[in-house]
Amino acid sequence: MKILVTGGAGYIGSHTVVELQNAGYDVVVIDNLSNASEKSLERVAKITGKEVPFYKVDIRDREGLSKVLEKEKVDACIHFAGLKAVGESVSKPWEYYDNNIAGTLILVDELRKHNAKNIIFSSSATVYGDPAFVPITEECPKGQCTNPYGWTKSMLEQILSDMQKADPEWNVILLRYFNPIGAHKSGTIGENPNGIPNNLMPYITQVAVGKRKELTIFGNDYDTHDGTGVRDYIHVVDLADGHVKALEMIKKKAGLKIYNLGTGVGYSVLDIVKNFEAATGVKVPYVIGPRRPGDIATCYASAEKAKNELNWVAKYGIKEMCADSWNWQKNNPNGYED
Ligand code: NAD
Ligand code: UFG
Repeated sequence: MKILVTGGAGYIGSHTVVELQNAGYDVVVIDNLSNASEKSLERVAKITGKEVPFYKVDIRDREGLSKVLEKEKVDACIHFAGLKAVGESVSKPWEYYDNNIAGTLILVDELRKHNAKNIIFSSSATVYGDPAFVPITEECPKGQCTNPYGWTKSMLEQILSDMQKADPEWNVILLRYFNPIGAHKSGTIGENPNGIPNNLMPYITQVAVGKRKELTIFGNDYDTHDGTGVRDYIHVVDLADGHVKALEMIKKKAGLKIYNLGTGVGYSVLDIVKNFEAATGVKVPYVIGPRRPGDIATCYASAEKAKNELNWVAKYGIKEMCADSWNWQKNNPNGYED
């Protein structure tokens, strides 16, 4: 089975290509490299011992996409390509709606024209907004997103679901990721944010490696066990494996399916700092700052549905997530630029 991986040079995409190739799938990657380096794919090839066919194509480029699909004759698509910076999406909403929504509309139109009506879509826990309850099950109502990025995920879920209802030949799996961190054991691929990291773990590793002075913890007055925000962190290799399991479901003619991919365990910001220090032996100086607008107190998954239906469970604990994030950062202080 041949899989088109959009955004396959990025953080989650590159790790998923490793797991797909290891599981015996043929993979074709397209990426416009707006937030990635082609070097990630060279390193994937070193890990798996298999070349990764790559096309520098934007998902909004209908002609470019059509050529790739004509040539490669893929069976299914795992769709990671998208812009993902929450803050930037507030200042550039048009760019986010254009890239994520217009791009996906063109992609799925080309997929159906080329008879590849199977898609696994990268959604996010952000679609739950401030969740009605925790642990969050897939039945938890979707909520109000606090930024255009979140709305692109929520709207794309609706668009793909409507398409599948209208044409049951489509198999659509919406995967709602919680907070991916960690890196491949080799330490050769990992998260490589542009500029100042928005997310907690890359910020921590950049403090640990000496690129930034200290972590600012965004608020310690939330209603949580220590006042700092609680999230469900998941090792990116576990997340990648979730996509391999989702492909099994596609083969069984999934129809429309929605799964959370999280561990079911919530850790606070302070828990993460302590676990990182314990796992790596490196101190992370921090200060307490104000709350970040749009943040919620607590967000963690119920991972039961993915376990029961996909036979997927997260294998890695928080210590390994921290150790592997650090292993990547310390070996590649400047990401793929070295
Ligand atoms: P990433 O930025 O590392 O990967 C996205 C990739 O898509 C990049 O390589 C980028 O160059 C590419 N891309 C962007 N726009 C494109 C376009 N128009 N055409 C072709 N390629 C394009 O991000 P990631 O963390 O690997 O995230 C992958 C997906 O998972 C994204 O859709 C993201 O929104 C979603 N997601 C991520 C998180 C997270 O915390 N990392 C959480 C939930 C959902
Ligand atoms: N945090 C800090 N300091 C920082 C960065 C983060 O204290 O410098 C805190 C946040 O306030 C939050 C926690 O660390 O309590 C996690 O923050 P992240 O920015 O790492 O992650 P979020 O949960 O805010 O959001 C992430 C992605 C979203 C995605 C969401 C759910 O950025 O795109 O997970 O999957 F939608």
